[in-house]
Amino acid sequence: MDYLYKRFAEYYDLCYSKKDYNKETNFLKSLIKKYKITGKHLLEFGCGTGGHAIHLRKDDFKIVGVDLNKEMLKIARKKSKSIHFLQGDMRTCDLKKRFDIVICLFSTIHYNQNCRELEKTLRNFYKHLKPRGLLIFDMGFNEERWSGGHIFVDNWSNREVDLVRFSKSRRNEDYGILDMACIIFKNNKFQFEEEHHKLRIFKTPEVKKLVEKIGFNVDLYAGYTKKVWQKNSKKYVVFAGVKQ
Ligand SMILES: C[S@@+](CC[C@H](N)C(=O)[O-])C[C@H]1O[C@@H](n2cnc3c(N)ncnc32)[C@H](O)[C@@H]1O
Repeated sequence: MDYLYKRFAEYYDLCYSKKDYNKETNFLKSLIKKYKITGKHLLEFGCGTGGHAIHLRKDDFKIVGVDLNKEMLKIARKKSKSIHFLQGDMRTCDLKKRFDIVICLFSTIHYNQNCRELEKTLRNFYKHLKPRGLLIFDMGFNEERWSGGHIFVDNWSNREVDLVRFSKSRRNEDYGILDMACIIFKNNKFQFEEEHHKLRIFKTPEVKKLVEKIGFNVDLYAGYTKKVWQKNSKKYVVFAGVKQ
């Protein structure tokens, strides 16, 4: 999967410039408070270009961000010198250190391609937490919400780049397939990039059972809000699990 987000990394922040990382981070902070976590050591898996980490850093969290993709990390490092960004795989990476909080956001969990990989990853999250530590991760490609079959055309511009992205999503058995093609106009030249993402669709109750089996007490939230997630919520699920 390390071939993904390579050439696209440079344009990732532009494409997600409307995503409200600040609002989501405020919700994460409200969970951290709710579960009475006072420690400030936070580990993020699949940190990407550091969208959430950079907001959390403002609140004095001591952050380590791990991502599979070097190009995403290069951009993250440019944005913050006080966050430690490392290349690693959420399934296997061993930092030999325990944290107060572990997070994994924006559907990164769906890059686990089957239940065996998902279990490996969740056990790795567990291993990196102190006793009573808090795990927060989200799932946008949950069976109850995601149907696929969409076509979008979006465009973004900044002073250097104009970008048009065509994206098509479809369901293929237990996977969500996202095919994306970007036409980029930069330095008076056109450039073409494409990406193909394969995300495993998980059933929320099954993931909840697995998280509990691993040793967490878990609550589910609907989207980045305090509302309890329900089958008909049609929202992102946010898992908040306390290590037992
Ligand atoms: C949708 S992006 C989310 C990035 C960031 N969390 C955000 O909210 O903007 C998914 C990220 O997960 C990373 N990723 C995919 N598989 C991974 C793995 N096995 N271990 C660590 N990172 C992974 C990708 O490189 C990418 O940066």
